Amino acid sequence: MLVSFKALLSLLFLSSTVSCSLHGLRHGHGGRRQRTCVIPSQYKASNGTADDSPAVAEAFAKCSVNAVIEFSEGVDYNILQPVSAKNLSNVAISVLGNLHLPQNITAVHAQATSLYWFTFAGPSIDFIGTSNITTGWIDSYGQAWWDANPVNGTGTAARPHLLSFNTTNGSLQHYKSRKPIAWNVQLVGSNITVTDAIIDATSTGGFPFNTDGFDVTGTDIEILRSVIYNGDDAIAVQTGSHNVLFRDNTIGYQSHGMSIGSLGQDQTQFANVSNITFDHNTVISAVYGARFKSWIGGQGLAKNITWSNIVVYNVTFPIYVTQTYVNQGSAQTQLQSGGVTGRVNNASVVMEDFTWANFTGTINTFSPGDRSCVTDPCWYNAGLPNLTHTEAIIIECNTDTSCTNFSTENIQLFPQNLAPPSVICLNATAELNPALGFACRNATFVPL
Ligand SMILES: *[C@@H]1O[C@H](CO)[C@@H](O)[C@H](O)[C@H]1NC(C)=O
Ligand SMILES: *[C@@H]1O[C@H](CO)[C@@H](O)[C@H](O)[C@H]1NC(C)=O
Ligand SMILES: *[C@@H]1O[C@H](CO)[C@@H](O)[C@H](O)[C@H]1NC(C)=O
Ligand SMILES: *[C@@H]1O[C@H](CO)[C@@H](O)[C@H](O)[C@H]1NC(C)=O
Ligand SMILES: *[C@@H]1O[C@H](CO)[C@@H](O)[C@H](O)[C@H]1NC(C)=O
Ligand SMILES: *[C@@H]1O[C@H](CO)[C@@H](O)[C@H](O)[C@H]1NC(C)=O
Ligand SMILES: *[C@@H]1O[C@H](CO)[C@@H](O)[C@H](O)[C@H]1NC(C)=O
Ligand SMILES: *[C@@H]1O[C@H](CO)[C@@H](O)[C@H](O)[C@H]1NC(C)=O
Ligand SMILES: *[C@@H]1O[C@H](CO)[C@@H](O)[C@H](O)[C@H]1NC(C)=O
Ligand SMILES: *[C@@H]1O[C@H](CO)[C@@H](O)[C@H](O)[C@H]1NC(C)=O
Ligand SMILES: *[C@@H]1O[C@H](CO)[C@@H](O)[C@H](O)[C@H]1NC(C)=O
Ligand SMILES: *[C@@H]1O[C@H](CO)[C@@H](O)[C@H](O)[C@H]1NC(C)=O
Repeated sequence: MLVSFKALLSLLFLSSTVSCSLHGLRHGHGGRRQRTCVIPSQYKASNGTADDSPAVAEAFAKCSVNAVIEFSEGVDYNILQPVSAKNLSNVAISVLGNLHLPQNITAVHAQATSLYWFTFAGPSIDFIGTSNITTGWIDSYGQAWWDANPVNGTGTAARPHLLSFNTTNGSLQHYKSRKPIAWNVQLVGSNITVTDAIIDATSTGGFPFNTDGFDVTGTDIEILRSVIYNGDDAIAVQTGSHNVLFRDNTIGYQSHGMSIGSLGQDQTQFANVSNITFDHNTVISAVYGARFKSWIGGQGLAKNITWSNIVVYNVTFPIYVTQTYVNQGSAQTQLQSGGVTGRVNNASVVMEDFTWANFTGTINTFSPGDRSCVTDPCWYNAGLPNLTHTEAIIIECNTDTSCTNFSTENIQLFPQNLAPPSVICLNATAELNPALGFACRNATFVPL
């Protein structure tokens, strides 16, 4: 997918030179950041028409090592072409201005030959936004994309992801994303701390398909104090991830929750995820709260996963484990019976040491699901016959050995209609799951 940028066909405004100084005082993990490149903007002078991305590219070329790159406070920048900086080392990217992607689909498609709009890679990268809520936003104008999605489509074609952030010993502070086209941040690497992010994919029209918050592939990664309102996973912890902490966040809207996976889609790869904690988070009106998803016929191990101290409000499936995951609209069709065509059910990703502790709140009984449903039955209802939307917990293990040492404790979840909470549970055997906390069968939820 990664193709080099198209040359600019016409430059109406020549880019003014990036100003550099050698007096930067900030220090990163890699040492002193001696050089500062302040990116000039032609936005105001051109009445919002000029493209500032050549100046951005120049700054990333000049200040790629031991440096600070600054988008100035309160200043608007048009980023009309993708920005790729893969050779950074010990760089702070100070995002104090507002970054605007092209405002229409045609303009993005004319440029979007790369998978990500922003690609940053190298050791010790700090993306530093601002707590000042009026500035420091990335505006992607996603609404047009969501509205252009055809009836029963699962998202407009050829949508770029917003940011690939690939670093060791780095941080993402005050990342603020308004109406992302689709996927927000792919985090890759190790020792990365995300704090105070705001992702707002609320839509006034079409469903904001695939607006994932954070897709994570890495080790020693923390996401703290963030707000993620979107139309897909708030966080999706992917294969190769270890020691990930997601704490003190608020997620919701049409969210698909705090997810592990999906794992095992590639049947030739051994998926491997361990030591993941989701702690002290609030989930509002989401489809899922705590979620695990793997594909039949996949292989791998997910070990030591904890969701604790979770408050949910109006959540359709607060606790959910499936091993028959498919992407809506994919060739592999999930049947109402729970069967799946197109893949051989000859292997399972194995789950060990999963804990769900201290959940409180309400289960969405009155308007379950979200607006992402384009099939009958809905992708999120398929394979779950006799749903009553009183389910506090749904655990579907593909085999009677694919779930081991599952544990629930202090689950205080109640349907909005005040019916008794219920459970759907398959194949989490008492022998392998002595601390499960309830009997694994489809019934009323009665803690043991
Ligand atoms: C500036 O742009 C706005 C909206 O894009 C337009 O309404 C206005 O006429 C433009 N002003 C000038 C001086 O071109
Ligand atoms: C926030 O940014 C705006 C735009 O630059 C500026 O006018 C305002 O003073 C800033 N507010 C604070 C509290 O710094
Ligand atoms: C789409 O955006 C580009 C770049 O911002 C602009 O030049 C063009 O006029 C826009 N087209 C429409 C139809 O708005
Ligand atoms: C991340 O960056 C490293 C070098 O810094 C590179 O080797 C690796 O391929 C990158 N990974 C991804 C997924 O972009
Ligand atoms: C992780 O990165 C931070 C800088 O973001 C650094 O201060 C810290 O020492 C790193 N931790 C380890 C274990 O390398
Ligand atoms: C998981 O955490 C334990 C305890 O801190 C540690 O010993 C182990 O190495 C971690 N596993 C991975 C894969 O990092
Ligand atoms: C499980 O993972 C957590 C981090 O998420 C870690 O603190 C704990 O030590 C791990 N437990 C074991 C038994 O590895
Ligand atoms: C519950 O969530 C659904 C789905 O997101 C939403 O349509 C509905 O308005 C929410 N209800 C309340 C009372 O918040
Ligand atoms: C659950 O809550 C109890 C009471 O506040 C606390 O002692 C316990 O540590 C919590 N469990 C987890 C896994 O956080
Ligand atoms: C969209 O999908 C729904 C559910 O499968 C179906 O009832 C409806 O007819 C479809 N609409 C179109 C225009 O295909
Ligand atoms: C669903 O309910 C019907 C009628 O009560 C029952 O016959 C059927 O066995 C149930 N199916 C499952 C999978 O529980
Ligand atoms: C439970 O596991 C066994 C094999 O271990 C499998 O044959 C069966 O289909 C599973 N049951 C369900 C309901 O998934």
